[in-house]
Amino acid sequence: MNTRAPGRHFLQIPGPTDVPGRVLRAISEPTIDHRGPEFAELGRSVLTGLKRVFKTDDPVLVFPASGTGAWEAALVNTLSPGDALVMPRTGWFASLWSEMAKRLGLEPILLETDWRRGAEPAAVEAALRADKGGRIRAVCIVHNETSTGCVSAVPAVRRVIDTVGHPALLLVDTISSLASIDYRHKEWGVDVTIAGSQKGLMLPPGLSFNAVSARGLEASKTAKLPRSYWDWRPVLEANAGFYFPYTPATNLLRGLKEALSMLEEEGLPNVFARHDRHAAATRAAVQAWGQAGAVELQCQAAGDYSSSLTAIRLSEGFSADELRALILRRFNMSLGNGLGILKDRVFRIGHLGDINDLTLLGAISGVEMGLKLAGVPAGSGGVDAAMASLTSA
Ligand SMILES: Cc1ncc(COP(=O)(O)O)c(C=O)c1O
Repeated sequence: MNTRAPGRHFLQIPGPTDVPGRVLRAISEPTIDHRGPEFAELGRSVLTGLKRVFKTDDPVLVFPASGTGAWEAALVNTLSPGDALVMPRTGWFASLWSEMAKRLGLEPILLETDWRRGAEPAAVEAALRADKGGRIRAVCIVHNETSTGCVSAVPAVRRVIDTVGHPALLLVDTISSLASIDYRHKEWGVDVTIAGSQKGLMLPPGLSFNAVSARGLEASKTAKLPRSYWDWRPVLEANAGFYFPYTPATNLLRGLKEALSMLEEEGLPNVFARHDRHAAATRAAVQAWGQAGAVELQCQAAGDYSSSLTAIRLSEGFSADELRALILRRFNMSLGNGLGILKDRVFRIGHLGDINDLTLLGAISGVEMGLKLAGVPAGSGGVDAAMASLTSA
């Protein structure tokens, strides 16, 4: 049997994303001494360059971990056993984060949603106003819910915290938005921003980040959750000289340096505009497919549409997993699966990271052909609609 799949694989999941050749080449450079003089220059370059991407002059800590590790670092450095957290459950990743909080001995106050929109600032406000005993120590928001393709309005959440005058910290997960969707750690008054390497930063999985405000650092001095590996303090001490307290992921940091250069060459505003264009073109395709009534956007709030991925919902009786399997088999393209309550209902097209118009059109063509082959009733003009969107002003 011929198992070779010719041509390039289309990795159109919402992260990990394609790693550009420049970044791969940087990663393949020889590993250097992480305590030697050459490393300090690499450390300086990435630790200062990251601040420009997070839009802050606060410290950004780098962990050799997936995004989940940076969630844990954010919680254990700022909170104490029994602290209550406000956590809008906007999707699968918000759910996972709340389960982690419970396992750590925290008490999440879950604000339920239908997983078809971002967090509701009014619900956060109501939870904070009801907190007569001052038990709530943090509000935790997933900026871009990768399971649903909905974005939450972080500045609006900040505003309600300030309006209520509540001292809760604001913790924000930007794992699938940083370097894809406009995000401003400092201006938006975020205390801990959590991010990962494998999405907008165009790196392989393996690095994650905490950007920490002065209030976040202050909270870490009295926070009582046990912490050792994730403790910010030794990392910050070593980072002062651009080193790490343990062996860092040296070669991923080499890749990060190159990825930061690429983002600066393109310019962050252009990176965001590119993601916005690709998301609009994808939604135009979905709208065309949806004419036949079996396909629709998972995100139902137009103001909350994600620019890094689009989650597409099939009507009852059609299997999103079978569709994805068919597309992988026939067209060598990986699409994101439905997670949690969206399992088999939804598939997701990632359009974040190092992609261009033709990559996107290839992905959309593959989905359009897949829908046809799978017998899912879908309008045939999705590719045309996406091309029209991409060539409009
Ligand atoms: C929004 C969001 N948060 C958290 C995570 C978990 O990150 P990781 O899988 O890198 O641990 C993901 C992963 O896709 C994510 O998309």
